[in-house]
Amino acid sequence: MFSRAGRNLFCSLAPFNAYPQAFQTQAPRYFTAAVSSISSQVDGIPVKIFNENGSKRVVVTKDLPGKRWLDVLVNADCRVEVCTHPDAILDVAKVKTLISTRCDGVIGQLTEDWSEELFGALKSAGGTAFSTYAVGYNNVKVAAANAHGLPVGNTPGVLTETTAEIAAALTLAAARRVAEADVFMRSGQYVGWLPALFVGNLLQRKTVGIIGAGRIGQAYARMMIEGHKMDCIYYDMFPQPKFEEYVTDYGKFLEGHDEEAVTIRRADTVENLLREADVVSLHCLLDASTTHLMNAERLGMMKSNAVLVNSARGPVIDEVALPGLAECANAVILPHIASASLWTRGGMATLAASNVAGVLQGFPLLPDGGDVLKFVDGPLGSEELNYTPSIVNSADVPSWVK
Ligand code: DGY
Repeated sequence: MFSRAGRNLFCSLAPFNAYPQAFQTQAPRYFTAAVSSISSQVDGIPVKIFNENGSKRVVVTKDLPGKRWLDVLVNADCRVEVCTHPDAILDVAKVKTLISTRCDGVIGQLTEDWSEELFGALKSAGGTAFSTYAVGYNNVKVAAANAHGLPVGNTPGVLTETTAEIAAALTLAAARRVAEADVFMRSGQYVGWLPALFVGNLLQRKTVGIIGAGRIGQAYARMMIEGHKMDCIYYDMFPQPKFEEYVTDYGKFLEGHDEEAVTIRRADTVENLLREADVVSLHCLLDASTTHLMNAERLGMMKSNAVLVNSARGPVIDEVALPGLAECANAVILPHIASASLWTRGGMATLAASNVAGVLQGFPLLPDGGDVLKFVDGPLGSEELNYTPSIVNSADVPSWVK
C-alpha cells in the first residue's frame, strides 16, 4: 500500500516484505543559472564568469543552488565569478587569490576563515560588500570586518523550518532506532518479526527540552508538541512569552477536544532541564558561553534513556565526552545538512546575493521586522526589494547608503 505525499515522495508499508520503508524517488534537482557563463581562471584557480561586462566584480567562493541569486547580482550590474575549484573547503590563500587586486564584493562560505587577512584583502581590493552564505557566522571575525568598515551579511529566516525538520528527523530516528535498523536490514540480518527487535521509546506525551528557544528551537518544539503532544521545558536567556502563550493556547485547544493539555515551562537552569526532559534538543548559537555546553558532567545528568539532538554547531557538545561516537550504533550521525532543503539553500543564496547587491547599490537595511522572504519570492526588480536584507554589524559600520 502506497500513500503519496508530495510530488515525488513515497512512504510505504510494503506488504511483500512486511517492514516499513520510506524513500524519495529522486533527490530534488536544482537548476543552475540560465545566464550563460565562460570558464576562466584567477591565478590558476578555476572560475565560471557570468555577465562578463558587469561593472562590479563579485566573487562567489562556491557555486550556489538556484538561479535567482545570480539574477539578483546580474540585475545589479555585477560580473559574477564563481569558484569551481574542487577543494571542499577553500583555504585563506585561495580565497585571497580569488579576491585578487580588484573585487567589489564576496559571497563566502561558513567553512572559510573570514578574519583580518581576508577582510584586509577585500578592503585593499576596493571591496565594500561581504555576505556569508549562512545564518550562523561563528567563522566570521566581525571585529575584523568592523575595523575595515565592511558590512557582514547573513541569511536568516529561510533556515527555520528546514533545520527544525532535521532535528525532528534525528529525534525520531534516535528514539526509534531507525539508523541501527537500517544497517541491520542492509546487511541481510533480518529473518522475521521478533517481539524485542529494535524496541525503542515512544515520544508521545513525553517531555521535550529545548536549549535555545529562538526561531529554530521554537519551530522544532512546535513540531514535537503538536505532532507528539509532548510537554515542553525550555532554557533560554530570555523568557519567550509568545511561545509560551502559543503552547498554552494549544493545550486549551486539546482540552476543548477532550484531550489532556500540553504544558510549557521555562527552566531556570540547563541542569534542571536535563534532569527532566526525555528529549533534549540544542538550538543555541555557538559562542564562548555555549562551547562544550554539553560536557560529560551535564550528559550524566540526562535521563538514562533520553535522546540528545544537536542541530546547532558541533562544538556545543564536547565530543570527547561521547567517546567512540562513530562506533555507537545508537547514534544517528549526519553531515552538516540541517539546512539542506532545496528551498532553503536557494533562499540562502538569494539572501546572500541580495546582501551584496544591496550594499553595492546603496540600498538601506531592511527595517526591523521586515519580511526577508519577499527577497526569496517577491517580484525581481520591484521597489519593495530595494533593501539590503540582513547585515549583522550594521550598527558598527558606516552606512553604505549613498
Ligand atoms: C547556517 O546557515 O548557519 C547553517 O549552519 C548552514 O547549514
